[in-house]
Amino acid sequence: MTPANAGVSPAYRILAIETSCDETAAAVVADGRRILSNRVASQIELHRRFGGVYPEVASRQHVLAIQTVVEGALADASVAHARELDAIAVTHGPGLAGSLLVGVNLAKGLAFASGLPLIPVNHLEGHIYSNWLYPDSAPAAESANSGESGAGGCGTASAAARSQRGGSASEQFPALILIVSGGHTELVLMEGHGRYRLLGATLDDAAGEAFDKVARLLELGYPGGPAIQAAAETGDAFRFALPRPLTRPGPRAARQPDSQASSRPAVLPVRGEHRFNFSFSGLKTAVLNLMRQLEREGTEARQAQTAADIAAAFQMAVVDVLVGKAADAAAEFGVKQVCICGGVSANGLLRRTAEQYFATIGLPLRCPPLFLCTDNAAMIGAAAYFKRPQVSARQGSSEGREPQQASETAARSSLHEQPHARDPLALDVYASLPLVDSVRL
Ligand code: KG4
Ligand code: ZN
Repeated sequence: MTPANAGVSPAYRILAIETSCDETAAAVVADGRRILSNRVASQIELHRRFGGVYPEVASRQHVLAIQTVVEGALADASVAHARELDAIAVTHGPGLAGSLLVGVNLAKGLAFASGLPLIPVNHLEGHIYSNWLYPDSAPAAESANSGESGAGGCGTASAAARSQRGGSASEQFPALILIVSGGHTELVLMEGHGRYRLLGATLDDAAGEAFDKVARLLELGYPGGPAIQAAAETGDAFRFALPRPLTRPGPRAARQPDSQASSRPAVLPVRGEHRFNFSFSGLKTAVLNLMRQLEREGTEARQAQTAADIAAAFQMAVVDVLVGKAADAAAEFGVKQVCICGGVSANGLLRRTAEQYFATIGLPLRCPPLFLCTDNAAMIGAAAYFKRPQVSARQGSSEGREPQQASETAARSSLHEQPHARDPLALDVYASLPLVDSVRL
């Protein structure tokens, strides 16, 4: 009798660990697409009193949480022992050095003890691959927390349109990637798996950093992104005019509400070398100057309605810049799909505006479900799958290789294309995409 699954190769399962900032996360991902488990221990409450991430507190908290989180992820995925897996993956940068070390050391220990290959993953590459995960493969508890009714898309498309586009990114290259997180804002041309061309990046503050700083100015709370978004819901985005740095006016009417679909972006990039670069520090200063001016005129800038109006104007300015530059880059490079990722990709206005714009020009747009926008380990497991060693550890062992030997071979081959070939797990605290040889500040 032939078993029902005869001829079906077993899934390649990766245990992924992520501790680059203030989330202790572990996940088990099958074939780079299916989330078998996804645990995230957030430290937000711990850092709230500081108004931002306190690095030393973050690394100590990782030490306290990591074992429970990893054991939980293995149990959720019904993995009794790490040896049942095919590889261990870990974020090795960019991030806070003390935080990264906790995850990297645990991953090294697990790989050594189990003989599994260890795959180092760039955190930004992880964010990119959050769009490759099947959104509806998450365990029920995670899906319930996502706050999103459907899979894929960016939150406004009809179910029919979503299923037409598929739930997650596919092998459509070149793809334009907009990474918008707390530490990075980058436009990347992805020419294939692991093949990236950096088109532009922020010259100063990242988009998420700007959200956090403006929220602090307005005393709206931490983290700033969700706080600004919540305040902006009752705000008038047109009461105050704020700049759109490194752009020029676009063809869309200035006061056209975002609810009106338009194939015309509100802004176009500046011409020249900063075409695809960003700058958000001046926008933050413009908010500060506006608040000072209001105070001079006798208006309390932090009064609820005024703060909501400032938040709405700020959010719209950031979104105009992000979508305007992404739209221009997508046209310039003739991409087949656009993927937005990173914490700020959770922003409702960004998702709606991008969705409407790219829908009207007929270009597929992917945004992760909300629970995969901010830091998690599932995305690290997805990225690791696409750079996995070609011979699986399980196959390798059955061919009579010593586990540790297999691990070393795998580590070498998985690092082939990486700059840290000498020391694959060297921390890359300031890394940017594409992975660079030297540290960039
Ligand atoms: O990707 P992430 O979790 O961590 C980094 O890799 O930096 O991104 C965190 C950032 C924070 O700056 C946070 O304020 C921002 O993402 N963020 C948002 C929203 N949710 C999180 N920004 C705007 N709107 C949101 N809804
Ligand atoms: Zn991140």
